[in-house]
Amino acid sequence: MYSIIRKRKLAEDTYLMEIEAPRIAKSALPGQFVIVKTTERGERIPLTIVDYDRDKCITLIFKAIGLSTREMASMGEGDSFKDVVGPLGRASNLVSLTDNELADYRVAFVAGGIGIAPVYPQVKWLYEHGNRPDVIAGAKTKSLLFYTDELQKMSDLHVVTDDESYGMKGMVTDCLRNILENGVRYDEIVAVGSMIMMKFVVELAREFSIPCTVSLNSLMVDGTGMCGACRVTIGGKTKFK
Ligand SMILES: Cc1cc2nc3c(=O)[nH]c(=O)nc-3n(C[C@H](O)[C@H](O)[C@H](O)COP(=O)(O)OP(=O)(O)OC[C@H]3O[C@@H](n4cnc5c(N)ncnc54)[C@H](O)[C@@H]3O)c2cc1C
Ligand code: FES
Repeated sequence: MYSIIRKRKLAEDTYLMEIEAPRIAKSALPGQFVIVKTTERGERIPLTIVDYDRDKCITLIFKAIGLSTREMASMGEGDSFKDVVGPLGRASNLVSLTDNELADYRVAFVAGGIGIAPVYPQVKWLYEHGNRPDVIAGAKTKSLLFYTDELQKMSDLHVVTDDESYGMKGMVTDCLRNILENGVRYDEIVAVGSMIMMKFVVELAREFSIPCTVSLNSLMVDGTGMCGACRVTIGGKTKFK
C-alpha cells in the first residue's frame, strides 16, 4: 500500500519518489496534486503529481524544508505511506486545448527552484501533444537545479542562476525580459515559484499584455474545496487553490 518503489536525490534537499498508487496514476493529469501522510498521526502534505505510470505509480518531487518533508526524506525504498489521497485539484487549463489549438499556442513556463516540479508535467503534456514550449528555470545555484536534461528534450530551455554556476547570470525575470524585448510573443506565461518571483513575472507579463497564470501554494487542509483553508482573494473574488 503506497510503498516507495524508487527514491533518488535530485538536488540539494530535493528528492524524487515513485510511489505505488495505480488508482491515482490511472486518472492523474498535469496540475493535479496528492495529499500524503507518512503515519496515522502525520501531517497532511500536499505535493504535485510530477509524473505517472498509468498502471503502476506516481512520481513526487519534494524539497525537505520542515518537519514533515524532512520526515519524508528519511523514508526509503520499500517503506510505505499511511495515506495518499488524490488526484486532487483542477488540471492545468492547457490540457483542455485540442492538438489543433496547441499547434500554434506559444507558452513560456517560468520555474523557480522546486517550481520545476509542477512545471514538468505540463511541459511533458505539451510535448506529447506536438507543442514545444519555452522554459526558463532559475535557482540560486546549480546544486538546487534538477530535471534540466529532461526539460531540454521537451522544450527550449533557458537556465538562470544567481551566481552564474549554470546558464545565464541573473533572475528568471531578466531572462524573460530579454526574450520579450527581442520581440518574442507568447499566448500565455505560466509561473511557478516563490510568491515574489511570481509577482515580478506577472508585472512583466502585464507590461507586454500577455495573459499570465501563477500557482499559489496556499496552506491546505482537506484539499477538496470543503474546508476553505486555501481560499485567496484575487481582484475582489474568492478563489480556491
Ligand atoms: C497544491 C500544493 C502542491 C505542492 N507541491 C509541492 C511539490 O511538488 N513539491 C514540494 O516540495 N512542495 C510542494 N508544496 C509545498 C509543500 O506542501 C510544503 O513544502 C510542505 O507541506 C511543508 O511541510 P513541512 O512540515 O515539511 O514544512 P513546515 O514545517 O510546515 O514549513 C516549513 C516552511 O515552509 C513554509 N511552508 C509550508 N507549507 C507551505 C506552502 N504550502 N506554501 C508556502 N510555504 C509553505 C512554512 O511557512 C515554513 O516557513 C505544495 C503545496 C501545495 C499547496
Ligand atoms: S484546502 Fe482548499 S478548501 Fe480545504
